Order: sequence, then C-alpha cells, then structure tokens
Amino acid sequence: MILTVLGARPQFIKAAAVSRALQSAGIDEIVLHTGQHFDHEMDRIFFDELDMPYPRYNLNAGGGSHAVQTAKMLEGIERVMLDLKPDKMLVYGDTNSTLAAALAAAKLSVPIAHVEAGLRSYNMNMPEEVNRKLTDHASRYLFCPSNDAADNLKQEGIIEGVHVVGDVMLDAFQLFRSSYKAKPLPEGLTEGDFMLFTLHRPSNTDDQSRLSSIITALGSLDLPVVWPVHPRVKQALDVLGIPGNVRLLPAQSYLSMMRLLAAAYGLITDSGGMQKEAYWAKTKCITLRDETEWVETLKNGWNQLVTSPERLKHVIDTVPGEWLPLYGDGNASIRIADVLK
Ligand code: UD1
Repeated sequence: MILTVLGARPQFIKAAAVSRALQSAGIDEIVLHTGQHFDHEMDRIFFDELDMPYPRYNLNAGGGSHAVQTAKMLEGIERVMLDLKPDKMLVYGDTNSTLAAALAAAKLSVPIAHVEAGLRSYNMNMPEEVNRKLTDHASRYLFCPSNDAADNLKQEGIIEGVHVVGDVMLDAFQLFRSSYKAKPLPEGLTEGDFMLFTLHRPSNTDDQSRLSSIITALGSLDLPVVWPVHPRVKQALDVLGIPGNVRLLPAQSYLSMMRLLAAAYGLITDSGGMQKEAYWAKTKCITLRDETEWVETLKNGWNQLVTSPERLKHVIDTVPGEWLPLYGDGNASIRIADVLK
C-alpha cells in the first residue's frame, strides 16, 4: 500500500491525475492531508471539483511558523505511518508538507517516491528550494518532469531511481480541458482583454514596499487586471490602495483558474505551476521573480522573468516565438504508476 501525503493546493491538482492512474493500475493508495491549506477555496473545492474522495486523514497542521508547521506534520505523519505500515510514501513538489512526509518516511526506512523531482531555482532563500532538495536526497524514486531536472539531480550525484516521465500537471491540464472550457467567465470580462495576476511567494508578499510597488505597477497598465487573492496576501491588502483597473477575486478553483488563464491576454505571476499552465494554454507569462525552476518556458519568450515591477508595462506586449510542446505528452501519471507497480 502507498501512503500519499498532500497539503497544499497544487498537490491536490497533481494527485487528481496520479491517483487516477494508480487506481487504474490496481495500486492500493491511502491519502493523508496535512491541513497546510485549509480555507474552503484552497482545499475542499479542489476535491469536489476534480472528483476526488476527500483524504482519509487530516492533521489540521496549517498556520504557524515554518518550523512549527513542519514539526506538527512530521509528528502526525509518523503516527499514521506506524499505524498503517505503508510499503511506500508518495510526495509531490516542494512544500512543507512534502518535506515533513519525506522526513517521516526516511526515519522509518519507508521508500519515498517524489513527483516533480530535480527542480532547482538555485536560491536557497526560498523555503521551497530547501524542501525539494532535501526531499530529493531522501528519495528512492525520483520522477522528473524534464531532462533538465534529471541533469540537476546528476550534478548532485543522484543517478539511481531517476525517471523522466513528464509533468503530471500537464496530465491534469489535459484531463480537465473540456471541463474548464465549458465554464463561463466572471461577469464583465471579455476574452483576450485582461491580464490575470497571482502572487503568493514570501519574497513578494511579505515586504510591504515590494508589494506596494508591484500593485502600483499593475495600476500603470492599460488593461484591466484580474487578481484572485491568495489568503496569505489578504491582510496586507487591507492597508494598501488598490488601483481602479485592478479587480480582486477570491482564490479560484482549478477549473475557474484555467478558464481565466485561457481567456487572458497574459499572465503576471510568481507561481511555479501557473508558468507552465500559461505555456500549455498558449498565454504569455511574466514571472515576478529573479529566477525560475521552469527554465524551458523562457526559451522562446513565452515566459519572461521581471525583477523590477516598473518594467511590467514595457514587456507586456512582447510577442513570443515558436511554441513547442514542453514537459511530456500528458501520460506522466501512467508512467509513474507503471514504475511503482
Ligand atoms: C505553499 C507552499 C508553496 C506552494 C503554495 C501553493 C511552502 C513553504 N510553500 O505556500 O510551495 O507553491 O503553498 O499555494 O510549503 N493560509 C490561509 N488559508 C489557507 C492556507 C494558508 O489563511 O487555506 C495562510 C497561512 O495561515 C499562512 C499563509 O497563508 O499564514 C501561508 O501559507 P503556507 O501554507 O505557509 O504557504 P503558502 O504561501 O500557501
């Protein structure tokens, strides 16, 4: 039996694709939710919409400092593992939930399978970089979305157990394409006539002057900006003015977000997943960070890194080059299930 640990929004989406493939392969899976994301629109809505059973366990370990959060998860996951005695532990991505699960499994000598292995920003100030690096070094099965990711692992001496399978987020994107296309756009929005904006990285959200300069830059754009707000940013916005062309929305479900992305003129974001989803939706992307793990999206200008928010209005109309398929063929989950079987 495989114990899967989920905790944050993007992991629910990845699991929507992989859990289906595990089930088709006849693999027994039990899911534990750490509770890292807990608001309805960050949690339940994904399970309902993506037609997944809600996890059997929930540790309610959200909130608190990174150390407190990770420690609560570590303890809770170990308790469940001692009870269930799983053969393998399955983890996704780079969140505190990923690291806590990997550590708990490593301490009990349970083999770890890491989906989205080998990604690097080479910025150890990001909590995600620490989480993904440590998880990779503890894993037995390393499922990489691209050859670049496998090369990163090689540079760190990890060669065994590495499988380049493609990106499971592409599997989900394809699986739910017809469902999101059928959704209506929020009232007042016209196809191709707005920018979509998301922000949640501590480096952008936790420094008020940085956040304020980003919002000012959004206000300087000629297009309307639609901003589904991550809960970590809500409070900070109460004291900052929102420009007239910026429309705030609550955090969106997966299908509503993909609908917005496909209709947008462009995306401005600091999310990892959204950079790829923009690419697959053929929507150009501006990433408000110094670096990206998804370097392949930069090649033909579909994604541009912008450090200084004042530059937004100068790069918004850049025309990207050729679009080539990236990150596999949408069957990564099937390959993962094959290996794990
Ligand atoms: C986490 C992940 C990040 C991932 C992102 C997706 C880590 C270190 N970061 O960032 O890799 O890309 O999820 O969204 O694991 N909060 C709420 N309601 C919620 C969830 C969070 O109010 O449903 C609050 C928390 O109490 C906390 C803040 O938002 O104060 C940040 O949440 P946290 O889970 O620590 O990290 P994210 O920024 O969501």
